Amino acid sequence: MTHSTSPEAVPAESAPTASYFQRHIFFCTNERQNGEACCAQRDALAAFERCKLQIKAAALSGPGQVRVSKAGCLDRCTAGPVAVVYPEAVWYSYVDASDIDEIVESHLKNGQVVERLLTPAYLGR
Ligand code: FES
Repeated sequence: MTHSTSPEAVPAESAPTASYFQRHIFFCTNERQNGEACCAQRDALAAFERCKLQIKAAALSGPGQVRVSKAGCLDRCTAGPVAVVYPEAVWYSYVDASDIDEIVESHLKNGQVVERLLTPAYLGR
């Protein structure tokens, strides 16, 4: 099999700049065993599962749509629990289930950032 290097040979949908998912949200579900604060202590796994179920129920999961993934430590532990949405690179610090519902409805479904849940820029590790 040979590969052409001409730009015409690359279908637009597989071009390197094309996004496979419209939006991809990563939930830190990291758990620390040493007693330090971590997102897992603050129900991050339940938040991840709630988000995933809602996206699935809305038939929004899959290529060209929304992907919900777990992540290890995202290095913003003091702001946790955190999730980040790409391609916008919007960071959220959520507290409860209603926050997840709002992120799903507003941002993941309709592209509107939930300003009240944004992680303060100064918060990190
Ligand atoms: S433990 Fe979640 S960001 Fe570090």
